[in-house]
Amino acid sequence: MKKVEVITRPEVFKELRDNLYSIGIGGMTVTEAAGTGKQKGVEGLFRGTTFEIKVLPKLKIEVVVDDEQVEEVVEVIQKTCNTGSVGDGKIFIIPVEEAIRIRTGEHGKQAII
Ligand SMILES: Nc1ncnc2c1ncn2[C@@H]1O[C@H](COP(=O)(O)OP(=O)(O)OP(=O)(O)O)[C@@H](O)[C@H]1O
Ligand SMILES: [Mg+2]
Repeated sequence: MKKVEVITRPEVFKELRDNLYSIGIGGMTVTEAAGTGKQKGVEGLFRGTTFEIKVLPKLKIEVVVDDEQVEEVVEVIQKTCNTGSVGDGKIFIIPVEEAIRIRTGEHGKQAII
């Protein structure tokens, strides 16, 4: 299993959520986040020397899926979140050792579908 973690613009969330559910994911976690990428919040140079690092509002969406679904999930995210402008976000893929559904005690794949 892998955790696919997306940090992206809040505006795309509804479409992303719908597109992810339409390919059959079992759930997701959404967290309000703030961050910067390469552009450092687009504050840039100030009087040639100092610059302020600003954080911009983002959403972090985490989806745990079976290894064989990772590629499809990444494709959906790229298609949905790519506006072509800086700040579209990042996708991180993290190995997940185990998943357990608390109510039933199901483990692994059974726990995430
Ligand atoms: N290396 C990183 N580690 C952790 N979080 C990151 C990293 N890079 C970006 N982020 C998070 O992703 C958000 C969006 O990043 P962003 O899309 O601006 O990345 P970028 O590398 O500057 O690419 P772009 O040139 O498309 O803007 C940031 O606000 C931050 O929350
Ligand atoms: Mg950026």
